[in-house]
Amino acid sequence: MALFLFVIFTVFLRPGSAAPSVGTTNGKYPHPSNGICRDVTINEEVTWTKAIWGLPKPKDNFDIVALRISEGALDGAAEIHPFSKIETAMNTYSLTGTFCTPSSKKDGKEKTVLLASHGGGYDRRYWASSYKPAEYNFVQHALDSGYSVLYYDRLGTGQSQMVSGYESQASNQIELIAKIAKSVRSGKYTADVKASKVVLVGHSLGSIYSSGAIAKYPDIAEGVVLTGAAIYNDTDPARYTRALALIFQDAKLASTLDPPFPRDSGYVGLGDIYAHATAFFHQPFDVPTLEYAQSILQPASIVEQATAGAVNFTAPLYKGSVLVTTGQWDMLACGGNCAPRIQYGVQDKDWPAAKHLETYLHPGAGHGVNFAHNATGFYATIMSFLDRNI
Ligand SMILES: *[C@@H]1O[C@H](CO)[C@@H](O)[C@H](O)[C@H]1NC(C)=O
Ligand SMILES: *[C@@H]1O[C@H](CO)[C@@H](O)[C@H](O)[C@H]1NC(C)=O
Ligand SMILES: *[C@@H]1O[C@H](CO)[C@@H](O)[C@H](O)[C@H]1NC(C)=O
Repeated sequence: MALFLFVIFTVFLRPGSAAPSVGTTNGKYPHPSNGICRDVTINEEVTWTKAIWGLPKPKDNFDIVALRISEGALDGAAEIHPFSKIETAMNTYSLTGTFCTPSSKKDGKEKTVLLASHGGGYDRRYWASSYKPAEYNFVQHALDSGYSVLYYDRLGTGQSQMVSGYESQASNQIELIAKIAKSVRSGKYTADVKASKVVLVGHSLGSIYSSGAIAKYPDIAEGVVLTGAAIYNDTDPARYTRALALIFQDAKLASTLDPPFPRDSGYVGLGDIYAHATAFFHQPFDVPTLEYAQSILQPASIVEQATAGAVNFTAPLYKGSVLVTTGQWDMLACGGNCAPRIQYGVQDKDWPAAKHLETYLHPGAGHGVNFAHNATGFYATIMSFLDRNI
């Protein structure tokens, strides 16, 4: 099975808060100006495979360092067995999202709904930057192109339900995407827009989960756009990237970050703005953009990281279209140089029945492509893929 790539972390929260909602601007989560937008509360029941943490839980940042050293060592991830058992669990989770449809409709394209799942380290604001939105706001760009977008805070981030970091795992995140996609098609979260097509759009961990969802439920979407993602073969040296990623992120317990997040020991965040830059950006840095990205960081669950690597995204029955894309110099997805990964990629084996399969590397960008130079060129490439293939 091909390895994937991936990411992690981030900032700010309240324990146990249920989803607030509804409004036109919603404080720190402003809506794009070119859409008809509303915040939605997403309630979905999922049956999932729960991994039970079996190691001592980290007590302080020295324990986090020990975890990073063990997992980050060559073959370390293979030697660490953090789980004592696996159970089947059923939970109803409450998430907060924003649904936007374009103010000016274009040829019925608003009936294609993009379901955007952010990666580790951010929440849904990754898709809807309020800093220089003309340059960095993916949702605004998608609305300009005529598409509707549902973007949401994944479980354990932003304004969505907080759970223990030991509960937020690849399995419940994947099942949630599948449930939300089905609900979008039935109109549950899209007001008067009757969705005829659904496209899963992910970044990083969100791409891993979107891939996992389509592998398990191949009929839920007509398209999958995997950003901050690369596929490579089992002998590619980039397979060590996951280990290195842990080092790059300089993870610290979320409760010890500046500012701190009131989370349990299952959550860590990027150590500081320099760790953020190392993991997500590529020089020359645009420092004000990096500072904005730093201001919207969120912590991520250590169990998500430990379970995401095992997600099987081989989807022999999926017949929709797939775009795999990231920055040319993505450190987390490709160990800092993506061209050879794409060149020797094994995408065809993962999506053998796909209608269209395309790859694209955005020049000069790192892992956090939405905050890279010429992000609008990146968005235009994604919109072109959708226009041609969905
Ligand atoms: C796997 O990837 C590596 C590096 O990208 C490449 O050198 C090698 O030829 C690839 N192997 C196969 C079987 O495609
Ligand atoms: C992943 O899924 C594919 C397709 O269902 C299957 O053939 C393969 O055996 C799975 N791989 C693992 C490691 O379970
Ligand atoms: C921005 O990216 C697009 C898509 O790759 C490309 O066509 C365009 O030339 C780029 N513009 C600049 C100024 O680099």
